[in-house]
Amino acid sequence: MTVELPSAWRSSPRRVLVTGCGGFLGSSLTDALLAGGHDVVGVDCFTDYYDPARKRRNLSDALLNPGFRLLEADLNDLDLSDVLADRQVCFHMAAQAGVRASWGREFDIYLAYNIRATQNLLEAMLQLDRADGESRCLVYSSSSSVYGNQPTYPVVETSYLQPFSPYGVTKLAAEHLCGLYAENFGLRTTSLRYFTVYGPRQRPDMAFQKFLEAARAGQPWKIYGDGSQTRDFTFVADALRANLLAADSPRRGAVYNVGGGSRIALRDALAILRDRAVAHGLADDIQIEYGDRVEGDVIHTYADGQLARDELGFAAGVSLEDGLDAQVRWNMRGEPAA
Ligand SMILES: NC(=O)c1ccc[n+]([C@@H]2O[C@H](COP(=O)([O-])OP(=O)(O)OC[C@H]3O[C@@H](n4cnc5c(N)ncnc54)[C@H](O)[C@@H]3O)[C@@H](O)[C@H]2O)c1
Repeated sequence: MTVELPSAWRSSPRRVLVTGCGGFLGSSLTDALLAGGHDVVGVDCFTDYYDPARKRRNLSDALLNPGFRLLEADLNDLDLSDVLADRQVCFHMAAQAGVRASWGREFDIYLAYNIRATQNLLEAMLQLDRADGESRCLVYSSSSSVYGNQPTYPVVETSYLQPFSPYGVTKLAAEHLCGLYAENFGLRTTSLRYFTVYGPRQRPDMAFQKFLEAARAGQPWKIYGDGSQTRDFTFVADALRANLLAADSPRRGAVYNVGGGSRIALRDALAILRDRAVAHGLADDIQIEYGDRVEGDVIHTYADGQLARDELGFAAGVSLEDGLDAQVRWNMRGEPAA
């Protein structure tokens, strides 16, 4: 997958930290930065939220690149001053993802990985900036889950935030931390609220990837709800481009929606996915079964992208048809079972 680097990222190499570098977004960004000649330090503790072997496979190209160094550790255990000392930009993508698993005792993990780890990074960055007079930049991967169910759509960044899951609460808390370190101390932070990102390397617990793997195993697609829920699906290369643009955002503490530019009912998106999967020979036929909704799942997501367009120059460029085609083709290469 190719990510078109914005002009600021084509002029001179930068020293970058990517947290969560083994994950779906983190590994894709790492590869894009390395392809552009940048120097990347990646941190990941390879959590077992899904098979860590997938994350290691995601990094197989990066690990061969002399511009990449992997720190295999939990952000809560590292000396982050040491890690950040020579870095100019930090793309903070590490988190315990997933809405459905965030209830009950699991919430402790969300607190540690999503909130505590973010505060550790911000504090280390603040102390370093004060000590050496540099102005490091942190781009935080936030989520549309901070919105919860809204009275009107599309949602703007100033909407009243009412997360509908414990996961969303932790993403919002960390986003607030980024904002208040910017406001109180002038730290250069930007938060990006992604709307359901998909594409090659998508997490196996997310709908499209889960369904493609079920199709390959000859199993039906079991949908939570009746498929009328709508999503503003965002192709991974678009989400990554938003990150690169955000690193040069002049406004400290800003928050931007990063959406795919249109919303579609899940059942219609799945019709496209089924069409692509059958066309590429991933499966002969796929049965779709509808079931009960799940606690924490919002009914709709739909981003107003005006602010990101005006201030970052970001607009999504990849259609759902093309993005799903890329994801099916990635699965056809034998990924992720290889
Ligand atoms: N994928 C989406 O649709 C989506 C949507 C909204 C927001 N986000 C956010 O984007 C970011 C990336 O999501 P993803 O889908 O790539 O998830 P992912 O689970 O594939 O990647 C996250 C990575 O972070 C690592 N990690 C977690 N806690 C860590 C810690 N304390 N120290 C070191 N490593 C740690 C995990 O091992 C994993 O490899 C997350 O912050 C997520 O909340 C993703």
